[in-house]
Amino acid sequence: MNVILIGFMGVGKSTIANGLAKSLGFDVLDTDKMIEQSQSRSINEIFATEGEESFREMESVILGNLIGSTDRSVISTGGGIVTREENIKVLKSIGIVFWLDAGVDSILDRVSGNRDRPLLKTENPRKKIVDLLSGREPLYERCSDEQIQTDDLSVDEISYGIAETARVWFSR
Ligand code: S3P
Repeated sequence: MNVILIGFMGVGKSTIANGLAKSLGFDVLDTDKMIEQSQSRSINEIFATEGEESFREMESVILGNLIGSTDRSVISTGGGIVTREENIKVLKSIGIVFWLDAGVDSILDRVSGNRDRPLLKTENPRKKIVDLLSGREPLYERCSDEQIQTDDLSVDEISYGIAETARVWFSR
């Protein structure tokens, strides 16, 4: 009985996870933070020193460790977690998966000025977002049980919608 949030960088997964966990009385977990804690380094440092592939390996290990060990948690995930097929299987097996979706403009708006995302440290972040999104959208779609278009909703509205949907799922 977990609630899992997937979706692109900047869609608000961490913020929504915190509010949602409070309203459901669940714990909150964040795969990016768990990786940083286990490595005692920031995601930026991991990307800079070891590259994306090593980061993906760490992400799969952290996620795999949640199988059977986590219950009543809201789990916020990194935007690229769906790029490994094995991760999609794990995510689907440990709870209800909500895809927080957003358009390119709102993503760009929300990530601009933030230097914590190594993949967007590029000349043309908009193009990078468009390219990554086009590859990932089918994966988010396949991985998720529910999709929420977040562009015109407040954090409270999104959290409320997820909490109510989760309650229905868990009462089945
Ligand atoms: C990534 C998203 C980041 C983090 C890493 C890679 C991605 O998490 O896992 O920088 O590939 O989209 P957020 O989605 O929380 O920013």
